[in-house]
Amino acid sequence: MARKGNKTGEWARRHINDPWVKKATSEGYRSRAVYKFKEIAEQDSLLRPNMTVVDLGSAPGGWSQFIARQLGDSATIIAIDLLPMEPIQGVHFIEGDFQDDVVLAELDEILAGRPIDLVISDMAPNISGVRSVDEAQYEGLLDSVLWFCERRLKSGRHLLVKLFEGSAAHHFRREVKSRFKSGVVRKPAASRPKSREFYFLAKHLKAGR
Ligand SMILES: C[S@@+](CC[C@H](N)C(=O)[O-])C[C@H]1O[C@@H](n2cnc3c(N)ncnc32)[C@H](O)[C@@H]1O
Repeated sequence: MARKGNKTGEWARRHINDPWVKKATSEGYRSRAVYKFKEIAEQDSLLRPNMTVVDLGSAPGGWSQFIARQLGDSATIIAIDLLPMEPIQGVHFIEGDFQDDVVLAELDEILAGRPIDLVISDMAPNISGVRSVDEAQYEGLLDSVLWFCERRLKSGRHLLVKLFEGSAAHHFRREVKSRFKSGVVRKPAASRPKSREFYFLAKHLKAGR
């Protein structure tokens, strides 16, 4: 028990002293994660006026906040999360699993037949601690992201997704090859160097797959 308490204390100390947390607080962002997206979005010129963006796994809302600030009313931004999210001006929020038919129906109502210009996913898998189970579940989640893109992302457009080193990420990158023209790995400065997390930008969804 004492060990767990120490670990929690360590996490809290690291969080409070984290420069990205301080920056997020001073700039009015809800999460330090915003700076991961900002770096990639700027490097790869992901945001354009009038675009339609879907943010999968959006809560607490840092990425959506950034997009709304950058693009204003010209964009259609739809955020989806299992957890509730405080409203953000200019962002449609749908609470639920992005794989659920009810959630997808609500999304399609907002899209009104328009294809998506950019899909972004900062979702993390649920961890049970049993590695083989976790990897299989994570692989399923990533397959759903690809399935989602095949049906709703416009040809020629991009998907940005958070991955964790391991067999599921490996499988995902293999699957991406048949659907997208190219892909690049990104490890933004705000992503902790020791973390297995990295980002993958799948570029130019192929037409007529
Ligand atoms: C790291 S957080 C996202 C942080 C966000 N990018 C930000 O800047 O504030 C990951 C989120 O993914 C959500 N998530 C995980 N699986 C999901 C699913 N199947 N459908 C919708 N949201 C999901 C979690 O509830 C969690 O809030």
